[in-house]
Amino acid sequence: MKNIAVIGSGTMGNGIAHTFAQFGYQVNLIDVNNEALDRAIATIAKNLDRQLSKGTITETEKTNTLKNIINFTDMKAGVADADLIVEAATENLDLKLKIFKDLDSFAKPAAILASNTSSISITKIASVTNRGDKVIGMHFMNPVPVMKLVEVIRGYATSNETTAIVMELSTKLAKTPVEVNDYPGFVANRILMPMINEAIYTLYENVAGVSEIDTVMKLGMAHPMGPLQLADFIGLDVCLAILNVLHDGFGNPKYAPCPLLVNMVTAGNKGVKSGEGFYNYANGIKDAVVANKFSK
Ligand SMILES: NC(=O)c1ccc[n+]([C@@H]2O[C@H](COP(=O)([O-])OP(=O)(O)OC[C@H]3O[C@@H](n4cnc5c(N)ncnc54)[C@H](O)[C@@H]3O)[C@@H](O)[C@H]2O)c1
Repeated sequence: MKNIAVIGSGTMGNGIAHTFAQFGYQVNLIDVNNEALDRAIATIAKNLDRQLSKGTITETEKTNTLKNIINFTDMKAGVADADLIVEAATENLDLKLKIFKDLDSFAKPAAILASNTSSISITKIASVTNRGDKVIGMHFMNPVPVMKLVEVIRGYATSNETTAIVMELSTKLAKTPVEVNDYPGFVANRILMPMINEAIYTLYENVAGVSEIDTVMKLGMAHPMGPLQLADFIGLDVCLAILNVLHDGFGNPKYAPCPLLVNMVTAGNKGVKSGEGFYNYANGIKDAVVANKFSK
């Protein structure tokens, strides 16, 4: 396995491309336009500089990593030689089904098709291809070059061979892969999202304020970040979408998103990316303060 194609060069795609390229793989990075690709390369260069200043990579490794990445806006050309394709495009079911249908006809018959989806069924994605045995979830965590986990998700038809290849490949990227089955939210989000939702309910029912809830979880449970701030980082719209997947997928009311979360997303308060969620980020992430709405 030498040639990797990454589809989508946003938050996750640029981190995935960076990681494969750093470990010596040839990466074709694909997005819909050159502006997105230019932004991704600039982000990768900045993140490599951070690694360089921390002494975790050398100047030569930085240069080689950037050399290993080639940009494409034409998906057909970008995936032609790939042994593995990792899709990290926008979290939208119809978009992903279209991409996988195209990939099935563009990619080499032996190529493995992986998705970095946070919540969409791998079995559903595989169903639009004629190679369900070679479709798998490769769920990297943000920021990809730093976070050690890869949640490897086996769809209903994913073969043992595909799973073994992806598990081994993940260890070659110095990650720790964990194999899980394809049910709503997999493991990571099935456990994380109800905790975040419960934290929002705790605020909604006025049991405690934003800082109080986050402080309890940081100091009491040794979480590096409180659940409300983590929700702001993930994106409140993303949290809501994943809770809806859990709610629809299991039909269990325990996953119903808190009405406060629904209201915040409807009002456009999506967390860090919109400048305000439970905290206000007008002065940057480090100086975030509890958003006005929640100040006593
Ligand atoms: N952000 C996270 O913390 C996180 C964590 C784990 C998994 N994920 C998953 O990773 C995937 C990507 O999320 P993200 O946060 O990087 O999103 P993002 O919005 O930052 O990036 C998505 C990129 O996909 C591109 N794109 C859209 N349609 C495309 C197409 N047809 N061909 C090529 N590129 C296309 C967009 O132009 C954009 O650059 C989603 O499935 C998401 O659920 C996200």
